Amino acid sequence: MRVFVTGGTGFVGSMLTESLVKKGHAVTLLTRKIKKSRVVPQGVSMVEGDPGKPGSWQEKVPDHDAVINLAGASIFRRWTHAEKRLIRDSRIQTTTHLVKALENRSGMKTTLLSASAVGYYGFHGDEALNEDTPPGKDFLAGVARDWEVAASEATAFGVRVVLFRFGIVLGSGGGALGEIVPIFKKGLGSPLGSGEQWFSWIHQTDLVRIFLFLMEHEDLFGPFNCTAPEPVQNKELTKALAKVLGRPAIMPPVPGFLIRMVKGEFGNVLLKGQKVMPEKLLNAGFQFQHPSILAALQDLLNPVSQ
Ligand SMILES: NC(=O)c1ccc[n+]([C@@H]2O[C@H](COP(=O)([O-])OP(=O)(O)OC[C@H]3O[C@@H](n4cnc5c(N)ncnc54)[C@H](OP(=O)(O)O)[C@@H]3O)[C@@H](O)[C@H]2O)c1
Repeated sequence: MRVFVTGGTGFVGSMLTESLVKKGHAVTLLTRKIKKSRVVPQGVSMVEGDPGKPGSWQEKVPDHDAVINLAGASIFRRWTHAEKRLIRDSRIQTTTHLVKALENRSGMKTTLLSASAVGYYGFHGDEALNEDTPPGKDFLAGVARDWEVAASEATAFGVRVVLFRFGIVLGSGGGALGEIVPIFKKGLGSPLGSGEQWFSWIHQTDLVRIFLFLMEHEDLFGPFNCTAPEPVQNKELTKALAKVLGRPAIMPPVPGFLIRMVKGEFGNVLLKGQKVMPEKLLNAGFQFQHPSILAALQDLLNPVSQ
């Protein structure tokens, strides 16, 4: 297949591109700045352009069988008014321009696989959420909802639209583990706030396998929760990390007020959560290679001792 990817230079996009190329797909990566130092693997071509603006990059999109949409500014920072606007615009405007580019296809079958996040559901307690749970009302939930609406506009052009509600992606070389592991290695790991909040996560290998699964299954469309079938509470994640890294988590929990003081509104993402189940993937017969947190962390952080 010919696959066009926005945000393909990032944490998820890089590992996904590598796997797509290994499977024999031809990948076009859209990036705002082509870096000369970047080694481009065989099977990948780079296109320079800003998905936040209309441009000549849009002419390349219709030649592809699958379009993967991952572009978006990081949410892992203190949210000022300007940051919130960037978080929103870098997802919704980019998606609108991408969808516009899909309007003029000459009758070919195309699939749009567009990122979203479990933040769609807003913050919840212990209840298990599935794809039918309505969206939440906080800032991130609003962004995810509008992001999905923008991607779904492509159905009007006959495009199959699949929405990936990612849990927190656990992988080597970046993402959430890139932030958390150094803290644990210093012996400073501890639960955040009450530790009762749910953490819906996915191992990077399973996420890549989900992309391939949903690209191939042409009968599947709409939102899919891309999360392991065994979400955990923050206190359980802390215990599992401490065990895998061999650093006992003996520090007292970090008080919620302190996190809110330092991180502002973003602190809610650390202190609250949601227990999300991958119901549609399980019903479609997808089998997770890494369903449980301890084995997943072992695989990513300590592979030799398995
Ligand atoms: N990682 C997770 O745990 C997680 C969880 C839930 C949802 N997601 C979503 O999945 C997507 C990919 O995640 P990721 O972790 O791979 O993100 P990432 O590493 O931050 O990469 C995102 C990519 O988006 C592009 N980008 C950044 N700022 C942009 C802007 N202002 N306008 C347009 N493009 C911009 C960049 O590409 P160029 O610089 O090359 O243009 C970057 O490589 C994101 O949209 C994220 O919200 C991720």
